[in-house]
Amino acid sequence: MSSQSTVSPDIQLILTRLSLLLVIYAAGLVIAPSSQLPLLVFCVGMASTFYRTNSFKWLIDKFVKLDMTSERQDIVNAIASLKRYETLALAWNNHKTRTFKRVSWEDQKQAREIGYYDHLMSVNQAIHDNGALCQRIVKEAIKKHGISELELKSSLYSKANSRVIEAICHYARDWTELGDGELKPLLSYIIENLDRNISVEDRSKTVLIIPGSGLGRIAHELSSLTPQFKSVQAVEFSSLMHLCNEFIYSEPQTESFQLHPYVHTYSHHITKANHTRSITLKKQPTKPSNLTLNFKDFRKFNLPESIEYDNVVIVTAFFLDTAQNLFEYFASIERLIGSKTGLWINIGPLKYGTAPVVEFSLEELRHLRKIRGWKDIDEPKPYGEEISGYLTDVKGLWQGYYGLGRWTSKYSENRKNY
Ligand SMILES: C[S@@+](CC[C@H](N)C(=O)[O-])C[C@H]1O[C@@H](n2cnc3c(N)ncnc32)[C@H](O)[C@@H]1O
Repeated sequence: MSSQSTVSPDIQLILTRLSLLLVIYAAGLVIAPSSQLPLLVFCVGMASTFYRTNSFKWLIDKFVKLDMTSERQDIVNAIASLKRYETLALAWNNHKTRTFKRVSWEDQKQAREIGYYDHLMSVNQAIHDNGALCQRIVKEAIKKHGISELELKSSLYSKANSRVIEAICHYARDWTELGDGELKPLLSYIIENLDRNISVEDRSKTVLIIPGSGLGRIAHELSSLTPQFKSVQAVEFSSLMHLCNEFIYSEPQTESFQLHPYVHTYSHHITKANHTRSITLKKQPTKPSNLTLNFKDFRKFNLPESIEYDNVVIVTAFFLDTAQNLFEYFASIERLIGSKTGLWINIGPLKYGTAPVVEFSLEELRHLRKIRGWKDIDEPKPYGEEISGYLTDVKGLWQGYYGLGRWTSKYSENRKNY
């Protein structure tokens, strides 16, 4: 029978380090009896030992983390995840390099001859470039949100890199020309229906709300229209997305980055150059004055009381299918409109995720709008004819396109009060 130690790992660590440091301290006193150095080494050693213990983490949790709102904790977690992007991505690629080295020596020679080893190394370089962008976002976010070192220590981050990869790859969709093909059809449908339903004079009395605004290009384009809408409220509840969106407007505005959006998988590539290709990401010179970036769950979002307005337009793009409960989304949209004139412009697929409780078809959604007091004024047919990619590598062997459900609907006079 094996005997298991009942001493906690913290105590074991402290005792081991303490004995070692005492020996070093005693030796230090023999060598330099009148020096303060042995004491200094002892204190630094003990402090670093305590820093590595779970007790230290517990103290941070108790006295730092609990003081934070969950929103601030989310920001701290996102910063920690961005910080770890490069380490995790390189570890992923190093694993690929190790598996390559498992094939026979002769096969390795052939793989090198066809450029596979160079390919692996180019991916590392691409990850470094993406990592440099992540570190800049981290620096900016720490500054903007006044995050302390101690708060960072209390971060809870996932070991998976997928959320960070998703967020930084959205830069390609929102803020480089790679995304134009994806976003232009969405913007033209939205702007066309805004123009049809809100007169130029009424823009100054109209608030646009964009739930699930992602990295914010749609909100940016709508707030840049002239004459301006009274206010454009982007509402995004992923802290990673929110920080990445904020970063695009930060100083210095002339800064640019090389982003490699397709580097995180070896599947579906035609060439190494396609796989590792980069695109220049440029920051925005200015944030439109009527645009507000809200880090919020839109189901809990309220318009600021200071805004005076007559009309509310809700713009949902690639958003509706994120609902766990579509009824909550309907209720939130209707609550935000309240007693004002309301318009809803939707464009996006119906690819339900996140454990949905109901998964309505386009037809059922149309019926639901009707019984809740919405009056459709546009629903282009044939349904789903317009298709669009989403973070699709148009030079890859696998490309995914979604048929888009589109409608523009007025919250009518006979609205129901739910
Ligand atoms: C599929 S993405 C689309 C992003 C953007 N609309 C676009 O077209 O690029 C959906 C976004 O909605 C956000 N989201 C999901 N549920 C949300 C909620 N309840 N409140 C605010 N944002 C939400 C997600 O974090 C994600 O950024």
